[in-house]
Amino acid sequence: MRRHLAKAFPDGDVNIRTAGTGVEGLQLINSRSFGCVFLDYLLPDMNGLDLLRSIYDAKTDLASVPVVMLTGKGSESVMLEALRWGAQDYIVKDNISFHSLKIALTKAKEVFELKRNRAMAEEKLQQAQKMEAVGQLTSGVAHDFNNLLSVVLGNVYLMQEQITAPPGKMDTNALAEELTAIETVARNGAELVRRLMLFSRQRQLASQTANVNDCIRDAATLLKASLGATIEVAMILAEGLPSISLDVSEFANVLINMSVNARDAMPGGGKLTFETGSIVLDEFYAAQHPEVKAGEYVMVAVSDTGTGIDREVAHRIFEPFFTTKPPGKGTGLGLAMVYGFVRQSGGHVDVYSEPGHGTVFRLYLPKAGEPDRTEAAPVLPEPVQPGSIILVAENDDEVRGTAVTMLEKLGYRTLQAKDGKVALDLVKREQAAIDLIFTDICMGGFDGVELVREARALLPALPAVFTSGYTEHTVRANKIAPDDDFIGKPYHQEALARKIHVALGKRKRENV
Ligand SMILES: Nc1ncnc2c1ncn2[C@@H]1O[C@H](COP(=O)(O)OP(=O)(O)OP(=O)(O)O)[C@@H](O)[C@H]1O
Ligand SMILES: [Mg+2]
Repeated sequence: MRRHLAKAFPDGDVNIRTAGTGVEGLQLINSRSFGCVFLDYLLPDMNGLDLLRSIYDAKTDLASVPVVMLTGKGSESVMLEALRWGAQDYIVKDNISFHSLKIALTKAKEVFELKRNRAMAEEKLQQAQKMEAVGQLTSGVAHDFNNLLSVVLGNVYLMQEQITAPPGKMDTNALAEELTAIETVARNGAELVRRLMLFSRQRQLASQTANVNDCIRDAATLLKASLGATIEVAMILAEGLPSISLDVSEFANVLINMSVNARDAMPGGGKLTFETGSIVLDEFYAAQHPEVKAGEYVMVAVSDTGTGIDREVAHRIFEPFFTTKPPGKGTGLGLAMVYGFVRQSGGHVDVYSEPGHGTVFRLYLPKAGEPDRTEAAPVLPEPVQPGSIILVAENDDEVRGTAVTMLEKLGYRTLQAKDGKVALDLVKREQAAIDLIFTDICMGGFDGVELVREARALLPALPAVFTSGYTEHTVRANKIAPDDDFIGKPYHQEALARKIHVALGKRKRENV
């Protein structure tokens, strides 16, 4: 090996160090920087992959040095593992020549550098984005406080004029008005600070055990009067919800903020619905939403039939000071406060919207007590006919991917379609091979309801399960029939398993 290396780099510009064991190798690697490490899989004290793992950094997806793995013939799994743990290349030991070493060394150094530079650039970009957000926040606060201060200073100036007026000319009514103006903006300033502090989680929540339904009933009474006659307020509150620990007065503010947003989105009137329920967010859901811990939650949904939120702005709505409203109409702190509250309560918030149709905000608040209770894994029903083929129609790639993974884990086979048209083409092509359609209701254009209607024109007994980001109540009121099978998003694997099981079972009964 040393001989080959010396031959590959004859002019002596390569300084070679060797280590006979893994421990020695590690010590050397940590003691100085190397242009490249040739790492044997078979070391007397450990295997090369273990050594590689110990110098691997997941953040950059690189080891601390460029590495070329040396393996025996037929050790494909070792080679793949080596690449997975940050090696740039491998050489089969039987094929070592000065030529192969030279190529591997050059490649390892180049690939390593490229990748390290990219990782550094990404980190810089993230840092820049963070700075941009901080900049926006600062300028937002500065702007709002400047406005408040100009009102204060303007009125102070007017008051000074009054006080220095000749005796008898002082207008006490005007003075009182100016004082009131100052008081009002100071109160607005205090409110701004309160929301900011809640967002930045500086404010301690005064948590107590509370019944979410009671809080909603109280807030709704308050709101009905102020939202105006064109907005209907509805409540669908689940019985027997577990009580949760929460700051009741902040929760009321959260409900009011969301309702005011809903009102603003329904200038021509509409319906505001509060809905509650218990829900389990499972490992699948948690894996996709890193801030979520799997477990039992109380779900509070606030939906409106307003303008909806465009995709381009949807990912920004929780940002402090993000608003689409004209100056003076919105501070952009409403949802930032909602977000801060929910996170501080150990919960999660998500939003689902169809532009032109409406929006649903869902808050998930963790069930109180018993935090670390380990539960027996739920017993999943056996697939009715393992290997049944389910056509999954869903326009969101991520959601469709998760559904497919869940269904396949349950023992079903799947076909996928990214919209109603593609799904219908698949139905026409595959016909009787499809055992069930699992479809989103709103997919832009040709929707899930039409899809199922047309599919059933061809295959009348074809079972279908509908899903939607809207709440079941909204969907049942407008879209699907009472006996249609429906599961609301987000669904967990166990619930999905049961729905599919029942829907497939129905056809079995009809066929006999
Ligand atoms: N129910 C909704 N329907 C449509 N758009 C919404 C809805 N809720 C929020 N938005 C959008 O999200 C943006 C941010 O909302 P947020 O409550 O944080 O601020 P705001 O309402 O603009 O101002 P503020 O609440 O501070 O008075 C809004 O400007 C609006 O564009
Ligand atoms: Mg708002």
